[in-house]
Amino acid sequence: MRAAVAVSQNPNDPLSSLVLKDVPKPEPRAGWVVVKVKASSVNMHDLWTLRGVGHDPKNIPIILGCDVAGVTEDGREVVVHPVIADAEAGGGDETLDPNRALLSERHDGGFAEYIQVPEHCVIDKPSSLSFEQAACLPVAWSTAYRMLFTRGELVAGQKVLVQGAGGGVASAAISLAKAAGLTVYATSRSAENRQLALDLGATAAFESGARLPERVDVVIETVGEATWSHSLRCLKPGGAIVIAGATSGTSPDADLGRIFYQQLRVIGSTGSTRDETQAMLDMVERHGLQPQIDRVLPLDRIHEGFQAMIDGHLAGKVVITVA
Ligand SMILES: NC(=O)c1ccc[n+]([C@@H]2O[C@H](COP(=O)([O-])OP(=O)(O)OC[C@H]3O[C@@H](n4cnc5c(N)ncnc54)[C@H](OP(=O)(O)O)[C@@H]3O)[C@@H](O)[C@H]2O)c1
Repeated sequence: MRAAVAVSQNPNDPLSSLVLKDVPKPEPRAGWVVVKVKASSVNMHDLWTLRGVGHDPKNIPIILGCDVAGVTEDGREVVVHPVIADAEAGGGDETLDPNRALLSERHDGGFAEYIQVPEHCVIDKPSSLSFEQAACLPVAWSTAYRMLFTRGELVAGQKVLVQGAGGGVASAAISLAKAAGLTVYATSRSAENRQLALDLGATAAFESGARLPERVDVVIETVGEATWSHSLRCLKPGGAIVIAGATSGTSPDADLGRIFYQQLRVIGSTGSTRDETQAMLDMVERHGLQPQIDRVLPLDRIHEGFQAMIDGHLAGKVVITVA
């Protein structure tokens, strides 16, 4: 079968490490199911793997792609929950399993004609969504769901700030937060993405770093260094930053004085449990939410999709379709 494989890691020229090639179709394995991939979307995570950040080189070569929608061999249309882990080993929360792995970290991912995943990872695709739309959801939307409602413990009527509105996780967070009845403020560097935030239901959108009309209960942070001090300044006393990523850098000025004096909480968040992925899909269906797609490309043009992500002018997800 055809697949896009990370064959090496290169911080300066990551795309040279991504190779389209023929590889064997996965052999059926007890407790796992083979899914014929229809669509798989690109994440920053794929780029980090190619750059050699946070991915053990001993797991190279590996098929990339952690967001998958497809059809099982018995004809079920499914979305793949992307965290391969043991809930028991995580004390009931699979994201806390020290051995957890996102698809494409230790198990081949979805930029291929077929993928094999544990049975419990396949979840029925919402019928309201196309395969292309469904393939946008597992990583970004489930991450946003956990950040808002599990880690952030937000409930209707509260206020949230989402930094970097154009991002995959950030735009999902805006849609989910609006659907949950929250007041949603968003920031973005670009006028285009501020408009996108408003279209997704944000109460108001501001330039990165701008003063908000009021302080918020929780900040959804995936930008990192570039927005950290603003995130701290925007919180009510006792508020929380929920952080799942640091695209612009991982070492901001911590501003410890503000954290203890305002009794702020800094809460890490990674991935999602299967139950959270299911709850996110139910919420998407119930509220008729739709992920934002920037472009859809066939597998043999995957490098174009990665280049667009590197260039950073995306308004939504890059989706790769597999014939
Ligand atoms: N922990 C997890 O489970 C998990 C899951 C998914 C993603 N992540 C991480 O979360 C981060 C975001 O992922 P994503 O897929 O949403 O990425 P993305 O789509 O590339 O979004 C990043 C957003 O950050 C903003 N940004 C980037 N550089 C900036 C800068 N210098 N100053 C201000 N804003 C900047 C941009 O928003 P504007 O252009 O609108 O300003 C951009 O759209 C990544 O680091 C990723 O690895 C973690």
